[in-house]
Amino acid sequence: MSTYMITGVTGQVAESVAFALAADHDVIGVARFGDAAARARLEAAGVTCVPADLVGADFTGVPTGVDVLANFAVVKTQKWDLDLRANAEGIGLLVDHVRPRRIFHCSSTGIYDPAGAKVLDETAPLGDNHRPIMPTYSISKIASEEVVRTVCRMLDIPTVIARLNVPYGVGPDGEARGWPAFHLAMMQAGMSIPVNPDRPNLFNPIDLADIARTVPPLVDAATTPATIVNWAGVEQVALEEWCEYLGDRCGYDVTFEETTSTIGGVTVDVSRMIKLCGPTQVAWRDGFTAVADAWLAGPGATAT
Ligand SMILES: NC(=O)c1ccc[n+]([C@@H]2O[C@H](COP(=O)([O-])OP(=O)(O)OC[C@H]3O[C@@H](n4cnc5c(N)ncnc54)[C@H](OP(=O)(O)O)[C@@H]3O)[C@@H](O)[C@H]2O)c1
Repeated sequence: MSTYMITGVTGQVAESVAFALAADHDVIGVARFGDAAARARLEAAGVTCVPADLVGADFTGVPTGVDVLANFAVVKTQKWDLDLRANAEGIGLLVDHVRPRRIFHCSSTGIYDPAGAKVLDETAPLGDNHRPIMPTYSISKIASEEVVRTVCRMLDIPTVIARLNVPYGVGPDGEARGWPAFHLAMMQAGMSIPVNPDRPNLFNPIDLADIARTVPPLVDAATTPATIVNWAGVEQVALEEWCEYLGDRCGYDVTFEETTSTIGGVTVDVSRMIKLCGPTQVAWRDGFTAVADAWLAGPGATAT
């Protein structure tokens, strides 16, 4: 049994991770806890909730000396100073306060330079991938990786940086989560789905169950200097294909609008991930079926 501190614990990805880890480990969840229902769910699952704000970086009351600091917090105000301060400086200052034995840092494949259908390994060029939709995101995520890499070496804390592709699944509250659920909301509202003209828009979606299951083996792979690994489903799926699949299952018409004001596909090489934690196990059609069914049982049930 280890003690995990999970930042961003109320988020759509980390809540599932916290639930899974709490079955076998002590879990301390850190966030501002604006969402009282999420906090109540986490506490009921045995997670100790400790409020802290990565912008202010006052960590009074945040415990120290945990086995693993797993950073899933992300600040997306699109204000440059705030987002860099929280995502980059904030995590460095938190590591300095907590002095964990290991660091798991959740990054994003949204830090790779846009490359269309090219399969990207961990050495691929970085770039401002998400600028069309979230101007501060890619740069502040790159900055946070660099801060984490530095504190790892400076404080000699074995670290793994996992670059997540498209998380999706059904959350502990039974609700559909992730970008595909957002697409369902758009379809339900009769909106066209924006797609980059460089088609098909290929990604490697990864189910929340696979995300939660692979955290401990990836933590075991932590090193100094940091190990960097793509964290993604083994199947390549086009956004167009998953939208058609979800629309068909939920009875929605699907239309696409080609635009350069959206991100393009990001598809990645998962061979390093497979070496470290094995392949993902949830087949995308099974995972998306569960998302569609959760959608229909929740917000989709009120569809017109
Ligand atoms: N979602 C995706 O499609 C996707 C794709 C690739 C990678 N990722 C990465 O996956 C990780 C989790 O993303 P997510 O989508 O699950 O995030 P999310 O749902 O937006 O959750 C963000 C979390 O950060 C916390 N947070 C926000 N501002 C904070 C602040 N000032 N101080 C402390 N905590 C703060 C939030 O809690 P409070 O508001 O309660 O503070 C929440 O728990 C991130 O590293 C993200 O970059 C996500």
